[in-house]
Amino acid sequence: MMKKKILAFLLAAVMVLALVACGGNNSGKDNDSQGGGEGGKTIGVCIYKFDDAFMTTYRNALQEILEGKGYSVTVVDGNNDQNKQNEQINTFITQGVDALIINPVMTSAADQIIATVKGADIPTVLINREPTADQMAAYDKLVYVGCDAAQSGTFQGELILETANKGDINGDGKVSYIMIQGDPENIDAQLRTEYSVKALTDAGMEVEELDLQRGDWDREKGQTICANDLAQFGDQIEVVFCNNDDMAIGALQAIQAAGRTVNEDIYLVGVDALDAALNEVKAGNMTGTVLNDAKGQAQGAVAEMEKLLSGTTYASGSQSVYVDYVKVTPDNVADFMG
Ligand code: GAL
Repeated sequence: MMKKKILAFLLAAVMVLALVACGGNNSGKDNDSQGGGEGGKTIGVCIYKFDDAFMTTYRNALQEILEGKGYSVTVVDGNNDQNKQNEQINTFITQGVDALIINPVMTSAADQIIATVKGADIPTVLINREPTADQMAAYDKLVYVGCDAAQSGTFQGELILETANKGDINGDGKVSYIMIQGDPENIDAQLRTEYSVKALTDAGMEVEELDLQRGDWDREKGQTICANDLAQFGDQIEVVFCNNDDMAIGALQAIQAAGRTVNEDIYLVGVDALDAALNEVKAGNMTGTVLNDAKGQAQGAVAEMEKLLSGTTYASGSQSVYVDYVKVTPDNVADFMG
């Protein structure tokens, strides 16, 4: 009898212990997923400035994907100020984020950003402004996800070459253009400017640059520059190259105000495939644009971040992951809408 009681007591004690141990494990698991499992990991995202049409689409896509996967995400606005962004990076590091996704304000700040994240040993994905391979080689837990800017420039030139007169509307043997540039410190602005024109000259076209001005990716600046150029050069302008769509939408307002008609007496191309630009391509008010795939890049950035989080390191020379640009014309614009 006594033996049975002792046995029952021991059994009960073992069960209680087992329960406690189980509970302990469970809460341990919860804590892990807070700080260790995919779900609870904290990610800091630095955007160069929120007031940028393309980067707004991009950051919304990033946030949606990250939150959808259960990460705890904070996205901050650098206000186009590198000092401010440096502080934000330091704050994220102090807070102990598991990974960073950074859209640098200045391409020239890459060395310093890379040194900072390396010093803190934080896996980092750089986006939108590509550093050189040499710069990235300094840290093996660093990868760049973006597009090959030269390709977008080439595509813009091809859009002009695919028109009936290859851009030479007045038949004087040369393509006379104005170039509305993004922030000239930005590699995307530099390469689009260079390669759009190179596509024309590579195809044997003569070109004449009537004006080149920085519009800093900004719609209003695009409009002002284009309006001034139309007032100064009038019918001489055959092609308006814009390094991005937001400036092209601004330029279109100036073109329409000047009584000119796109695809009849002037051509207009941008990059990004913003919704507004897709509508204008469809309506025939822009000659074309180039898809800068915000969603694809956001997916790529998160995929690379997850590789870093699971311990992948990158060899120098293979730290850039590219998403393709796509030419958008009235023929295929429907594929990108909605
Ligand atoms: C480019 C994009 C521009 C602007 C810029 C910011 O890739 O085409 O519209 O967002 O990035 O760095």
